[in-house]
Amino acid sequence: MSDKIKLGVLGCGPRGLQMAAIAKLMPERFVLSAMSDPDENALAKAKAKFTGTEFFSSSDDLLEKAKIDAVITEIPPAIHTEFVVKALEKNIHVLGEIPAVDSIEEGDYLWKKVNESKALYMCASNPNYRAKTLFGKKLKEMGLLGKIAYIDTEYMHDMRKFKDEWRKTYESCRYCTHSLGPILALTDGDVFTDVSCMSTYDRIGCGRSHNAMVAILHTANNMVVRFLTAFALPYKGPAHTTRILTDRGIVELRNDNARLWLEGLNEFSANNDFLEIPFTPGGESRPSGMKIIDEDLFRYAHYGHNGSDILMMEDFADAVLNNKPSPIGIREGLAMTLPGIYAAQSAKEGGALKKIIYPWDKE
Ligand SMILES: NC(=O)c1ccc[n+]([C@@H]2O[C@H](COP(=O)([O-])OP(=O)(O)OC[C@H]3O[C@@H](n4cnc5c(N)ncnc54)[C@H](O)[C@@H]3O)[C@@H](O)[C@H]2O)c1
Repeated sequence: MSDKIKLGVLGCGPRGLQMAAIAKLMPERFVLSAMSDPDENALAKAKAKFTGTEFFSSSDDLLEKAKIDAVITEIPPAIHTEFVVKALEKNIHVLGEIPAVDSIEEGDYLWKKVNESKALYMCASNPNYRAKTLFGKKLKEMGLLGKIAYIDTEYMHDMRKFKDEWRKTYESCRYCTHSLGPILALTDGDVFTDVSCMSTYDRIGCGRSHNAMVAILHTANNMVVRFLTAFALPYKGPAHTTRILTDRGIVELRNDNARLWLEGLNEFSANNDFLEIPFTPGGESRPSGMKIIDEDLFRYAHYGHNGSDILMMEDFADAVLNNKPSPIGIREGLAMTLPGIYAAQSAKEGGALKKIIYPWDKE
């Protein structure tokens, strides 16, 4: 392989176009070699936007004919696993969109296939690279976060006008990676073991299957998480919020800022009040004097998805080009995806408590 990754993007919907544009922003790492979509209109949009790229109306053809080193799967969740496996079997590296799988059986299958493959699989959990996640990790690294007892996490995004068919019936609790991935980055391997979930169903009568869903999750070491998704209710989103209660105090993380009340940090705040830290202020107005502020975090927080896409792509490229282990491997991918699938099962049974079983538990 040369010093640049020849990249294929499967799917030319909004996310496929966005990731292709990000690859173009990183010419020292990626060449956007090929794109595919069976939808003529979607493919035409991609053709109008990108030059020097080969276009295919079938992803099978792209995998067969295009000269590529890696693909990104920007296709509906129900076919992520199918195309991740097809690519890996051709020794093509994969940045696999989230959620990593669509069913428990697919989880077992993908676990086996990734472990058998010589190509690299990275779970494309861009939320793990958001400023708020990096900030939480930094607090932990510095020993400021303390021991986590309880977390509230919410993903609020009014998607009632989105045109894609799969979102109309999709149980929103299954779109859990954005919320659970960043939490699992802080728990030192303590994964979710049990879940109970309830749905409002279409209580407001908007034509979507679920207005909101709420899950309570439990880990092996007694951490409790309440996880809310509200995808079919009016809201100024997308908003990701996480409220972490620890033995040191409280950390609230939002898209663009953090609010802290932690023992040991009080000297930075007036009147022992919450300390507010914005993630995207311009140069001069950045908070100064605190070691937890990291210049890169501010620099990248201005890019798409709060900087996360570009940081994730950089990590993927580094792992592929330098033969490093996957930055977010299949184990992490399944640990953040399977709880949502079990949550959907629980909701179907009116909130019944479900034991979460991972492929590695079955070995
Ligand atoms: N990580 C993130 O921040 C983030 C954000 C948005 C979407 N996503 C994920 O990205 C994926 C795509 O999202 P979207 O909003 O663009 O969805 P979308 O449904 O609008 O677009 C998907 C596209 O894939 C095409 N497609 C279907 N089957 C295909 C196949 N076999 N080969 C190639 N293309 C095929 C469709 O025609 C469509 O154009 C979803 O899995 C979604 O979960 C992730």
